Amino acid sequence: MSSTPVLPPAPKVYIRTFGCQMNDYDSGKMRAQLARDGWQSTDDPDEADLVLLNTCSIREKAVEKMHSALGEFRRQKREGRPLTLGVTGCVAQLEGDALLERYHNVDLVLGPDGVPHVRRLVAEARSGQRVLDTDFLDLETYPFVTDLDPDAAKKVGAFVTIQKGCDNRCTYCIVPTTRGDEASRPSAEILDEVRRLVETAGVQEITLIGQNVNSYGLKVPHEKNFAELLYAVAEVPGVRRIRYTTSHPRDMGDDVVQAYQDLPQLTSHLHLPVQSGNNKVLRRMKRFYTRERFLDIVERLRQARPDLVLTTDFIVGFPGETEAQFLDTMSLLDEVGFVSSFSFKYSPRPGTPALRLKEGHDDAVSGERLTRLQKRQRELSLAWTRSHEGQVVEVLIEGLSRHDEGVICGRTSANLMVNFPGSASEVGSWAKVRVTRGFTHTARGERVAAPVEIRARRA
Ligand code: 5AD
Ligand code: SF4
Repeated sequence: MSSTPVLPPAPKVYIRTFGCQMNDYDSGKMRAQLARDGWQSTDDPDEADLVLLNTCSIREKAVEKMHSALGEFRRQKREGRPLTLGVTGCVAQLEGDALLERYHNVDLVLGPDGVPHVRRLVAEARSGQRVLDTDFLDLETYPFVTDLDPDAAKKVGAFVTIQKGCDNRCTYCIVPTTRGDEASRPSAEILDEVRRLVETAGVQEITLIGQNVNSYGLKVPHEKNFAELLYAVAEVPGVRRIRYTTSHPRDMGDDVVQAYQDLPQLTSHLHLPVQSGNNKVLRRMKRFYTRERFLDIVERLRQARPDLVLTTDFIVGFPGETEAQFLDTMSLLDEVGFVSSFSFKYSPRPGTPALRLKEGHDDAVSGERLTRLQKRQRELSLAWTRSHEGQVVEVLIEGLSRHDEGVICGRTSANLMVNFPGSASEVGSWAKVRVTRGFTHTARGERVAAPVEIRARRA
């Protein structure tokens, strides 16, 4: 008689991601590498054997969020739950040792450059060691992880990292401290990942990500620059849309502007963080462009692509910012007509040059300015979505509406999300939709009679 051996259940990992798209991507790469050792990824923290909090330190609030999430898992461990608990990402880099000292039931602390070694580090933590890895890796041989996120096939779009770190030193920003200097990933590797995402996971929209994508390749002899990379990605068969984030206005060259004329795959939406509309504040932030130069870039981009829409990031209440300087930011918002923005109160970050500015900042004043800015932004956003009413737009269907049954959502090239009746089987297809109503962030529509192209799902 033979009996089938009973295999132990696969161990499960739950990764909670805070912060930006770089962290999202790193979480995917950690999942991919752990899968090689048999780890199954789960969305349910209660069934996990390993919990990783992939953290963000860009503003104080983000750090607070991670501490409260950590507190919950620490409590469960104290009550006897067998769990390996790790902190990864930017807070891990910043606090390092201190996290292990302060929290006795944290097993693993690894910074962003620890991602390529996650399998070994997790294995060490599971064998009972307390593990710390916050070393920066060599920039010239930086080992970008090539395994695909096992969840990639669930989505119509995917991120592809093209660089790590940042060589800029914006005076408010902690990123250079937590992610180190910039390294560009070899273009052959990027193009290979794009091809694999299209061919094996059926992905149609690629978002190239990095802290400052416009400076891609500049430090590496014989490497493509960012514009050349865009043209090469556009040549990969099956890539229907290309987005990228984040770009720095200083490095927005004429060749990238030209790409908006030449490459239909490049979407009609660009996120271009301006931070402030006042030249003195921009100088003190060390952004290396002026309001006039920013407006000039916008004008040239719109000549190249008349329907281009722009979104941005703003910081209000930077140390010493006067009311008049803030009003320059308000007027820039209108002058460019940003259709949406992320806006933040200045948050002092440890070790950043802005801490040494002699002028202070007043949180209450920043809060009041933020309210005014966001109110005006909502008006502009609504005006933009409403300007689509009655128009027929083409959308790539991304998924089901989270709120209404029988409703799906699709995104236009310009990044407008439109909800309309449909079913799950249509995810990954393209549709022509008439916009019937615009809201602040999304729109509602109805399909117009037109053939729907169904994507062949290969995964
Ligand atoms: N305070 C407030 N906002 C910040 N950002 C970066 N650092 C800070 C800070 N110290 C914002 C910028 C950046 C976005 C990712 O976060 O607007 O573009
Ligand atoms: Fe921070 Fe400036 Fe680098 Fe962006 S470009 S990550 S804001 S230092």
